[in-house]
Amino acid sequence: MIGDYTRRSFLDGLLGVATLGWIGSVLYPVLSYLKPPPPPVRSGPVRLSPSATERIEREAFTIVSAAGKRILVFRDGDRNLRALDARCTHEGCTVQYVPKESVVWCACHNARFDEQGRVISGPPPRPLGRYIVKKDGAGNVFVHQESA
Ligand code: FES
Repeated sequence: MIGDYTRRSFLDGLLGVATLGWIGSVLYPVLSYLKPPPPPVRSGPVRLSPSATERIEREAFTIVSAAGKRILVFRDGDRNLRALDARCTHEGCTVQYVPKESVVWCACHNARFDEQGRVISGPPPRPLGRYIVKKDGAGNVFVHQESA
């Protein structure tokens, strides 16, 4: 009698835990789907440090960090300043500017982008994100996100 009661209690408890687990496994993805995504991080213009600005003049490009992103800032073939997301859209490697070829290159899988960030060759599925670059009269360089 006591053995039956114990076995029945154990089975009832096991059934209760399994039911709760099943309900949780159904509700969690539904609630996760319904929860709105966080708003994109927007930040104001970022001023490049004097050393980063000098590096652009010396090596034609530099990579700066802003709002948790890596940004490639470079002087294109026409000597205009440009800025692109430095994170390759394939698997996230950091790209670099190749001034002799006027292309942005990702060494991980040999991808190439043009100076506007469009894919020329390689596996990346999307172009690189673009930023706006401005230089003030004092020679300070500012980078900020292109408005959508
Ligand atoms: S990560 Fe850039 S091409 Fe693969």
